Amino acid sequence: MKKTILILLLIVVAIQFIPRGLPQVKTDNPGDLIKTAQVPGNIAKILKTSCYDCHSNETKYLWYSYIVPVNFLIKRDVEEGREHLNFSEWAGLKKSKKAKALDEISEEVDEDEMPMGIYTLIHRDAKLSEKDKKALIDWTENYAESLFSK
Ligand code: HEC
Repeated sequence: MKKTILILLLIVVAIQFIPRGLPQVKTDNPGDLIKTAQVPGNIAKILKTSCYDCHSNETKYLWYSYIVPVNFLIKRDVEEGREHLNFSEWAGLKKSKKAKALDEISEEVDEDEMPMGIYTLIHRDAKLSEKDKKALIDWTENYAESLFSK
């Protein structure tokens, strides 16, 4: 029994040498949504708290992000999240892409699909209240309208 535990422990230590491959963090993003568009303070706060870890280049990794094999789950979510929607590169999107993204944000939030459940399990503060949801959805609608009224 003791030997089995020791072997398991050695395996856990050994796999820590596998490269973690977590997506890079970049804090200087001139095309960032919050920097380039008019985003009300409360909306910016919600997006930063609940979405930016997976949908921007400004991911804040916590200590367990570096533990193999937890890192593989986080790597996949951040890679896929950024691929689908990256707020750090917002300014470069065409109007039609922005409108589509806003529509998708509204839908995902309305259906409680985002933020991902596995994420809010640990990041309790990222969970959206009904008030947050409504504020986000209203914002996506107003913003989408303003895109085409100029
Ligand atoms: C833990 C990581 C994570 C967090 C946090 C997160 N997302 Fe996502 N998001 C993903 C991943 C991964 C995908 C792609 C796979 C999928 O659709 O489930 C995705 C997909 C999406 C899509 C669909 C884009 C498309 O092309 O279909 C939207 C919109 C979206 N997220 C919005 C949000 C919003 C808004 C928040 C915050 C309220 C948020 N997400 C928080 C990981 C995350």
